[in-house]
Amino acid sequence: MTGPKDARMSARISGIGYYIPEKILTNFDLEKMVDTTDEWIMTRSGISERRIAAPHEASSDLALAASRAALEDSGVDPKDLDLIIVATVTPDMSLPSTACIIQDKLGSAKAAAFDISAACSGFIYGLATAQSMIAAGHTKKALVVGVEVLSRIIDWEDRTTCVLFGDGAGAVVLEPCPHGEGIIGTYMQSDGSLGDLLYRPGGGSRAPLTVETLMERQQYVKMKGDGLFKYAVRAMVDAAERTLEEAGVAKEDIDYLVPHQANIRIIEGVRKRLNLQKEQVVVNIDRIGNTSSASIPIALGELKENGTLKKGDLVIMVAFGGGLTWGSILFRN
Ligand SMILES: CC(C)(COP(=O)(O)OP(=O)(O)OC[C@H]1O[C@@H](n2cnc3c(N)ncnc32)[C@H](O)[C@@H]1OP(=O)(O)O)[C@@H](O)C(=O)NCCC(=O)NCCS
Repeated sequence: MTGPKDARMSARISGIGYYIPEKILTNFDLEKMVDTTDEWIMTRSGISERRIAAPHEASSDLALAASRAALEDSGVDPKDLDLIIVATVTPDMSLPSTACIIQDKLGSAKAAAFDISAACSGFIYGLATAQSMIAAGHTKKALVVGVEVLSRIIDWEDRTTCVLFGDGAGAVVLEPCPHGEGIIGTYMQSDGSLGDLLYRPGGGSRAPLTVETLMERQQYVKMKGDGLFKYAVRAMVDAAERTLEEAGVAKEDIDYLVPHQANIRIIEGVRKRLNLQKEQVVVNIDRIGNTSSASIPIALGELKENGTLKKGDLVIMVAFGGGLTWGSILFRN
């Protein structure tokens, strides 16, 4: 699905912020927890360490810190927000939404607030939704957050998953701009027939948490890593190419690629097929791990923070995740 074609308005990112928890869990720490090695994790995934939320921190706490940073960066008063979208698969609780919790804490009384569940593509889905609402004239100032406390739904006894994921949050503020500026291309796609490649069976209406489901460890994420790997590069490249085509932009015109940080080998595969140089790709997987919906806004925040992102730069963001879901957004800074 692409964005509105005939809209007169679009949306620009006017502020970026992120928050990562203080606690660092290294591969060497993991060596003491499960049967793994730093060498295996580094060579297979490119991850060296990840951040883990403190026991008192829930998703809304991380989201709030990232949101405040993005709002400060944009100069937008939280009271003026009319839309808050939070992308997460680890909400504080299933009801109310994490978006409503941070709406209250931000004092954004006139905002509509809701969560989006699209796994690692959640931030892209949230941003495309907010952009469409701004383009349609329904919304003026939007906050889009990607946040995860994956450490709470990971099986710390399963070495095939626990080494890959981390916690964090990233947020952007969107404001209206003329069509052709700001976000100039969006693409989203899903394939629900492959849902069993990454899922969490317990805790919903299908298998509520009971002593039995807890004993069966159904509350934890299950993953078929090789199956996901097979689709990831192809889907991410396809999404990027469709987004570029929609915007009438050539691969050579891209200044930066901000990919979802799932595996350095997936990122490298996408980079090569888009003919980009290593310096054009934002990579922080070594320090942050896979933070699902938070990974792209955290990487974007780091790109802005390190001062290399210039006015007018063309940035393409590409995600892939459970669902399956995938998508891409192209914007001019
Ligand atoms: C998970 C992933 C890193 C595994 O890499 P891989 O090269 O495919 O490795 P394999 O799955 O073939 O595993 C090879 C062996 O290592 C073992 N292994 C798995 N995890 C291990 C760990 N943490 N430490 C040591 N050995 C491990 C496996 O049991 C397997 O052993 P076997 O051959 O005796 O059965 C990779 O498939 C991947 O990144 N997939 C995508 C995951 C992803 O993106 N998930 C989120 C979606 S956004």
